[in-house]
Formats: sequence, structure tokens, C-alpha cells
Amino acid sequence: MISISALAVAYEAQAGRCLALENVSLGLEVGETCAVIGPSGCGKSTLLKVLAGIIKKYSGTVMIDGRPLTPRETKIGFIPQNYGLLPWKTVYQNALLGVTVGRAATGADKARLAALFDQLGLAGLEDRYPGELSGGQQQRVALARAFLLRPTLLLMDEPFSALDAITREELQDVFRHFWRREPIATVLVTHQVEEAVYLGRKLVILSAAPGRVRQVVDNSPVGAVSARSDGSFARQCALVREIIQEAWRK
Ligand SMILES: Nc1ncnc2c1ncn2[C@@H]1O[C@H](COP(=O)(O)OP(=O)(O)O)[C@@H](O)[C@H]1O
Ligand SMILES: [Mg+2]
Repeated sequence: MISISALAVAYEAQAGRCLALENVSLGLEVGETCAVIGPSGCGKSTLLKVLAGIIKKYSGTVMIDGRPLTPRETKIGFIPQNYGLLPWKTVYQNALLGVTVGRAATGADKARLAALFDQLGLAGLEDRYPGELSGGQQQRVALARAFLLRPTLLLMDEPFSALDAITREELQDVFRHFWRREPIATVLVTHQVEEAVYLGRKLVILSAAPGRVRQVVDNSPVGAVSARSDGSFARQCALVREIIQEAWRK
């Protein structure tokens, strides 16, 4: 479905050219979740910004179904690192932002949003502003917005990193629950091994900066069935941690 080939991105900074990603190639199938894991500064956010169409200056190719990927032709849901909520809009308005680009919200949008708010524990918070919510609640609003859009491709940038451990696991479960019902092709970037193994069917391990693909791990058996308490989950985390220690050292 999505195929990234020989992607390289460089930033022109005052101190000179900074290579953020080099020779990154990877594929994503319909309904697949891909967790990209790499150390801080290795280009994870850069990769998502390329997929989201925010960064347009790169070399290599990014294709969807054989055509160049552009936000104009593909519905892309993007949850940036800081949730991307507009502070001057209410929770309700924020959640509708994605679907109401260029049109008014329909009755169907509103009904679906009400159901999502119920499932996400946001009912009753519609008229608040993002600054009046906890981090976990803001993250839920960002998820509601993304799921409401029913995107072809969902991009999540360290979505749960800023949350406490319990809230993080709760929201990872919420994501898995929604994803099982509607398996949206998802690229999630993280620096946490457990998060990658819990949410990704495919794990892409990047090197330290500039990010290059060190290894791709098929995580489908673990990502599909196991719970965190499963022995297979713990074993997979240990294995991935070993691969990462090797990959990040070089
Ligand atoms: N707008 C920018 N201008 C110059 N350098 C940047 C810019 N954005 C990111 N970088 C640099 O590119 C590298 C990758 O950044 P980023 O993709 O944010 O990494 P990550 O998300 O993995 O932490 C870092 O070295 C960062 O300092
Ligand atoms: Mg980042």
C-alpha cells in the first residue's frame, strides 16, 4: 500500500546542513500497524512529517498504491507529538477539526463523535478548552479527532510518551480496541520498546542520527494476540531490546 524508498531528508540549519534521515526504505500494508523505534533526534518526527506532507523537500520516493503520497489525495490522520489541539477551540470543536475541513459537520459526524466521546470517557468535557484538560484527556481528544476522520493512513508521533505509566497503558489499550474494530494503516513512532511491541505488527528499528533502518522485525504474532502479562510479550520485548542495544550503539 505505502512504499517508502531511499528516503533522505536534510535540514538547512545555521550551523550547516543536518542530515536527519538517510536511505530509509519501508513498506506498509493495508490495515497494518508499523512501530518505528529510534533514539531521540534520529529523525522519527521528520519521517512522519514527510508522510503527512508537511516536509516536501526530500529525496527518494513515497508512494501509495503506486502513486505519490499527497494529503490532497489520501486522507491522513496525524497526531503530532504535542497532540496538535488548538487552545482557542473547545474539545468539541477540536475533535471535529479533521472532518470539517472545507465543509460543515453532518448529523452523522456528530452522532459518531458522541459515540467516540462516550467510549473515550470524554462525555461531559465537550465545552472545555484543551488547557483545562489533563494530558491523558488531551490525548483522548486527539484520538477522537483522528478516529472520527476514518483516515486511510494514521500517523502518531510518540502519542503516549508524555503520560504517566498507567494512563499510557490505558490509552494503548484504547488504541488497540479501536484499531481492531477498524484496522487503519498506522505508523507510530516511539522510543519505548514496550509501546512498539504492544502496538506494532511490524517494528522498524532506526539507528542513531541520521536515522537509517537497522532492522525490521515481524511482530505480528505478539502484536495480534498477547496481553502485557503474556510470557511471549516479555520475551519479545527482551529480544527487541537486544536488537536495539546493538543498533543504537553503532
Ligand atoms: N526544522 C529543523 N531545522 C534544523 N534541524 C532540524 C529541524 N527539525 C529537526 N531537526 C534536526 O533533525 C534531527 C531529527 O529530528 P527529529 O525528526 O525531530 O528527531 P526525533 O523525532 O527522532 O527525535 C535532529 O538532529 C534535529 O535536531
Ligand atoms: Mg520527535
